[in-house]
Amino acid sequence: MNDVSISQRFRGRRALVTGAAGDLGAAIAKRLSSEGARVAVWDKNSNGLDIAFGSAGGDTFLKSVVDLRSERDVKQAAAGVLDAFGGVDIVVNNAGGALDRPYYLLDQTEEDWVQTIDLNLYTAVRVTKAFIGAMSGAGYGRVINLGSKAGRYSSYIDGPAYCAAKGAVHAFTLSLAMEFGPKGVTANAVLPGLIMTERVRKLWEFRRPLVEREAIKKAIPLQHHGDLEDISGAVAFLASDDAKFITGTLLDLNGGQSMAT
Ligand SMILES: NC(=O)c1ccc[n+]([C@@H]2O[C@H](COP(=O)([O-])OP(=O)(O)OC[C@H]3O[C@@H](n4cnc5c(N)ncnc54)[C@H](O)[C@@H]3O)[C@@H](O)[C@H]2O)c1
Repeated sequence: MNDVSISQRFRGRRALVTGAAGDLGAAIAKRLSSEGARVAVWDKNSNGLDIAFGSAGGDTFLKSVVDLRSERDVKQAAAGVLDAFGGVDIVVNNAGGALDRPYYLLDQTEEDWVQTIDLNLYTAVRVTKAFIGAMSGAGYGRVINLGSKAGRYSSYIDGPAYCAAKGAVHAFTLSLAMEFGPKGVTANAVLPGLIMTERVRKLWEFRRPLVEREAIKKAIPLQHHGDLEDISGAVAFLASDDAKFITGTLLDLNGGQSMAT
C-alpha cells in the first residue's frame, strides 16, 4: 500500500469480507482494517484464514469458517457478526471464482453452470440478504461485489458459465442500488481484469501460450496486469465517504484493457 494514502477513515466502521482466505479477499480485509475498520473474515478454508490472519485473529479480525453454499450457515454466521459488532457497515462479497471448469461451452456441463452460478451469484445473494436488513435499519451501508471484466467483456481464461455468473452479479448490484438507495445503502461492483493471484496465474499459464500472454499484456494501455492493491484500494474507496454519492456503478479495473463509454 502507498504510505501516503494511509488514513483512519474506517475508524468505528464494521466490515465483512467473504472469501477472505484468498489473495484478493485477504488484501481487501487487511486494507479496510489498516484504515481502522473491524473486519469479519469468512472463508470455508479454515487453514487459509489462519495463514492470512494468524491463528489468534486478534481484536481486529473476527474469523469464521463459513461455507457460503449453505443459507443456514450464512444466517448463523451473520447473527454472530451482528452480535459481536453490534451491526455491519460494509459488506464485501468477494468469494467467487471459475472453479477450474472447462473454457469452451460445449465442454461445460449443466453441473458446471449450477456450481459456478452458486459460487459467484447466490453466495452474494445469501450474504447480502443476511445483512441488508440491519444496514437498512441503521440507514447506512455499503455493499461491494466482486464482479469481473469477464462478466462485461468476456475472458481469456474463464468460460461462459463464469462470464454469465459475473454478469448476473453486475445486474444484482444495480438492482440492490435501486432498492436500497432510499435506505442509505449503496451498492457497487469492482470488475478486475487479470490479477495474478495463485489461482489465476496457474490458469493463465495453462490456457494461453507465452507469446499470446505477452501480446495480450502489451495491448493493455497501461501495459501490465493489476495487483492486489489496485483492487483493495478501489474497494476501500467505494466503502469510504468519498464515494457517498456513488451507487450502481460497475467499476472497470483493468488498466484500459477493455473500455466502454
Ligand atoms: N484474480 C483475478 O484475476 C480476478 C479477476 C476478476 C474477478 N475476480 C474475483 O475476485 C474474487 C476473489 O478472487 P481470487 O482470485 O482471490 O480467488 P481465490 O480462489 O484465491 O479466493 C476465493 C476464496 O473464496 C473461498 N471460497 C470458495 N468457495 C467458498 C464457499 N463456498 N464458502 C466460503 N468461501 C469460499 C476460497 O476458499 C478462497 O479462499 C472472486 O470473486 C473472483 O471471481 C478475480
